[in-house]
Amino acid sequence: MATEVILKLIQNGPVKVEGTTTVVHPDGKEEEKTSCYICRCTKSNNKPWCDGSHAK
Ligand code: FES
Repeated sequence: MATEVILKLIQNGPVKVEGTTTVVHPDGKEEEKTSCYICRCTKSNNKPWCDGSHAK
């Protein structure tokens, strides 16, 4: 059964992911998340996650 995942684009900020999803990293590692913020600005020191650097 599919569950709904919602992507919210925050103006001048990250993508907020709401709903359980699997994130596959470049090295193939998989990580399950129920809610997360993905960096869109490339300034994060903790990619792929937003660390608030977009606001600096
Ligand atoms: S979007 Fe927040 S650090 Fe890039």
